[in-house]
Amino acid sequence: MALARITILISGRGSNMAAVIDAATEGRIEGAVTHVISNRPNAGGLEYASARGIATTVVDHSAYPSRESFDTALADAIDRGEPDLIVLAGFMRILGAAFVHRYEGRMLNIHPSLLPAYPGTQTHRRVLEDHGTRHGCTVHFVTPDVDGGPVVAQAEVPVMPGDDADTLAARVLEAEHRLLPEVVGWFCDGRLTLHAGRARIRDAQR
Ligand code: GRF
Repeated sequence: MALARITILISGRGSNMAAVIDAATEGRIEGAVTHVISNRPNAGGLEYASARGIATTVVDHSAYPSRESFDTALADAIDRGEPDLIVLAGFMRILGAAFVHRYEGRMLNIHPSLLPAYPGTQTHRRVLEDHGTRHGCTVHFVTPDVDGGPVVAQAEVPVMPGDDADTLAARVLEAEHRLLPEVVGWFCDGRLTLHAGRARIRDAQR
């Protein structure tokens, strides 16, 4: 069977993107990252991808007058790569409902909290302010409900005494780098699907 074609959307550093690229390059997932798209021209992850021979595209949101026009340009860029799966990995733009529906069941996002707790930004700081004892990350299918789509899998980490937002973020990020390639692998194997608004995983080894 042909390798699944994966397009990754980023906005910055791209360490989650790199984790998926490495898993694909090392043959740990039955997929190939064929395209990386950033909404920021200076996203660090672009260099990592192009150094590995992966096509990169910038769709700079600031060049578009409206969300709809940005979404249209982004969809055009995505569709040129003919992906089986789209992964939002630190992609910091809210996408419109029409865009999201176009890729329903084949678009995943990684979010740095145990959803439904702490949707949105600044999750690490907010967990600490609430004196939370557990934190983590979630991979979910993307729906128009921001950070509210069907959860596929989560990885939990403890909040340690003395943590600040940076130490906690670093612990969560390590968990993200394990979880995201694993879930992408399930999708590429055809074991992960979206059915009636719920994630269905067949024979996942976890
Ligand atoms: C990650 O924590 C991701 O979950 C969040 O933003 C961060 C992006 O990091 N949405 P990177 O660009 O993958 O290194």
